[in-house]
Amino acid sequence: MTGSDSPTVDLRATLRAATDLLRAAGVASPRVDAELLTAHVLDVDRGRLLVVDAIDAGQRDRLEGLITRRAAREPLQHIIGRAAFGPIDLAVGPGVFVPRPETEALLEWAVGECARHVPAPAVVDLCAGSGALALAVAASVPDASVTAVENDPAAWTWLLRNAGETTDAVRRRITTRRADVLDPDAIGDLRADVVVSNPPYVPLGASLDPEVVDHDPAVALFGGDDGMSVIAPMIDVIAGILRAGGACGIEHDDSTSDAVVAAFEASGAFTDITAHADLAGRPRFVTARRVTDDPGSAGTGATDGARGHVQG
Ligand SMILES: C[S@@+](CC[C@H](N)C(=O)[O-])C[C@H]1O[C@@H](n2cnc3c(N)ncnc32)[C@H](O)[C@@H]1O
Repeated sequence: MTGSDSPTVDLRATLRAATDLLRAAGVASPRVDAELLTAHVLDVDRGRLLVVDAIDAGQRDRLEGLITRRAAREPLQHIIGRAAFGPIDLAVGPGVFVPRPETEALLEWAVGECARHVPAPAVVDLCAGSGALALAVAASVPDASVTAVENDPAAWTWLLRNAGETTDAVRRRITTRRADVLDPDAIGDLRADVVVSNPPYVPLGASLDPEVVDHDPAVALFGGDDGMSVIAPMIDVIAGILRAGGACGIEHDDSTSDAVVAAFEASGAFTDITAHADLAGRPRFVTARRVTDDPGSAGTGATDGARGHVQG
């Protein structure tokens, strides 16, 4: 499996050593990361490693360099330059938040919600970052048109890159807007059936892994002392964007589910306020529906029916 002139190195032993190094460095999934970095160096799928016995010295040296970076707690996705999210794969690196698997629960909700708004649901992704939610919704819902809103200059560059590199079928349904999601003058003209947002929500002072605190941008992470400094004011902006009967889902810190429910209730513009847990059972996002006066439509039309409830 290696170049004929190059000395070969036993892959199993190399993987064991790499795994031990990553484990000692405190990496949460050392074996998986070692395999993914090896697969990256060999330019094969991780599953193909089963049929590789040896690598050449050049590949070993390159792998050692990547393992050293990972042991220094650089995110795996920055080293590889890609992050998987739902049905898509995004370019990521310094300056943009790495999409997380737990946000796929919000993606799943948004795709299901789009089915209620046929044909051609209008979707807005507030705080779009790399474009993970916006592009994954567009890839999953073939008739959805999606607007991705992001304000940070570095994240904006990654968003444009990912929107540009997607398929033609997705690209023609994506609109990007560089704007502050808290500024109604900048985004108040948008109209949506579905709003999704994974905003900055970590309370200041929270304890975070080095991969997060040293590499995800602070503007993507922190939501003030209580984690609500973006979410709370954003809810009023969302109320102005959503069509009657439309719905929004906002991801939040696992300590702020009640606060997000309360913020939706306080707005008076929403009903069906529901707290959702992620696959690990942690409170992860809250959904709510814009009230409508149409009794045949999804909402109740009564804000006193807008009590929050919890859904696993
Ligand atoms: C947690 S990241 C989420 C990125 C992406 N939605 C995801 O799930 O991977 C939050 C993003 O919100 C952006 N952001 C923070 N405050 C913002 C604001 N006021 N207006 C627009 N974008 C903002 C940050 O730059 C960052 O890209």
